[in-house]
Amino acid sequence: MESLKLDVSQVYKFASKEEIIALQAKAEKANRALHEKTGKGKDFLGWVNLPSSIDNKFLLDLENYASSFRKKVDYIIVIGIGGSYLGSKAIVEALSDTFAHLKKKKDFPTILFAGQNIGEDYLYELLELLDQNTYGLVVISKSGTTTEPAIAFRILKDHLERQIGIEQAKELIVAVTDKEKGALRTLADRKGYKTFIIPDDIGGRYSVLTPVGLVPLAMGGFDIRSLVKGASDMEIKCNQAVPFINNPAAIYAATRYILYSKGKKIEILANYENKLHYLAEWWKQLFGESEGKKNAGMYPSSVDLTADLHSMGQYIQEGERILIETVISVKKTKFITTIPSNSDNLDKLNYLAGKNIDFINKMAELGTMLAHLDGGVPNLKIEIPEINAYYLGQLIYFFEKACGISGYLLGINPFDQPGVEEYKKNMFALLEKPEFEKETKKIKKRL
Ligand code: PA5
Repeated sequence: MESLKLDVSQVYKFASKEEIIALQAKAEKANRALHEKTGKGKDFLGWVNLPSSIDNKFLLDLENYASSFRKKVDYIIVIGIGGSYLGSKAIVEALSDTFAHLKKKKDFPTILFAGQNIGEDYLYELLELLDQNTYGLVVISKSGTTTEPAIAFRILKDHLERQIGIEQAKELIVAVTDKEKGALRTLADRKGYKTFIIPDDIGGRYSVLTPVGLVPLAMGGFDIRSLVKGASDMEIKCNQAVPFINNPAAIYAATRYILYSKGKKIEILANYENKLHYLAEWWKQLFGESEGKKNAGMYPSSVDLTADLHSMGQYIQEGERILIETVISVKKTKFITTIPSNSDNLDKLNYLAGKNIDFINKMAELGTMLAHLDGGVPNLKIEIPEINAYYLGQLIYFFEKACGISGYLLGINPFDQPGVEEYKKNMFALLEKPEFEKETKKIKKRL
């Protein structure tokens, strides 16, 4: 199998090869600390050797369970937020036919998501759809106490129980949560739902290869074996024994670090295949929540190209010079669509007749990279041979490892998220949640 390729040569104008290589010792030390569990957040390093530790029996049991579950329903509603949502959403979007929901043929139930927002209309419209269809629920929460998914679950569970009865609903509800802690664990045990465990030592944004991602993906009929295999192969390629120069995750982390220290404060993850839109959302959470601490860290942002060249392109070309751009480049498309010749040629496109769309997309990619480079935006390229479960597995592990190394280079703990609590405190105070009486009084004075 081929491997993803990282090309950082288009940053040398801004950060030389020598400067990157000078970080070898620090990056290797950071990688060792991840493997030897000697750095910050060392209790949350279960993801480091996770792919290679997933055994065949676990996959087989999950595949069997998922295959009998999905035969019973048209839709599977995956309820979760943050790390309990973005990983499976990214893979589902990347591997699905964009128009699958509008096409008649359907081999597998459609995966939909809830609990990733508190949108009233979103839930109402979802319930309207479910009124007419069969569905099951996969509720995912490591803490088991997160408000957004808890609300969505209460509403959807209630709907399902009214639709098919409490006893039947039980068979169509699966909980993915902690082995003992949290309200969701208590509820699942009391009601007798099927449960899958999220390991203690893996935080939300590193959890896509745990049941958090694998359960919904298996339910949707996605190839979880190839996903895990891709991640496993990348685990070997980014291992602590691999010399810096051959370790793509370490090179990516070191290159970002140098550019950051030279004033590049924003990283844009760019795709030219819009199926990767949610992979960028997952990546933004991974890097944003891991690195944005102590008033430091590159701000992760993303663009879908070429669409966003007609909106954000102007800023990237000529705005503040604090940007770097990392392109996920896909070598081969799944299908071929060719531009037809036209006798009138009124649109003046005959010069492209006979060419396939991806050839044009690739020229857009190359032209944009050169333009942005000329405009002062360093360019990193991550190339994958094609979009499939195997290469998505590679990308996931590559980014996770790079993020761990990068966090340690920055001197922060990449595995906690203390800042996320602030909004929750205010929201609970405003909602007058029991035990938040003091905060409620205090916040009301500010209004
Ligand atoms: O990465 C994280 O830790 C967070 O984004 C969590 O995944 C998110 O807050 C959801 O938490 P939970 O799974 O406990 O409901």
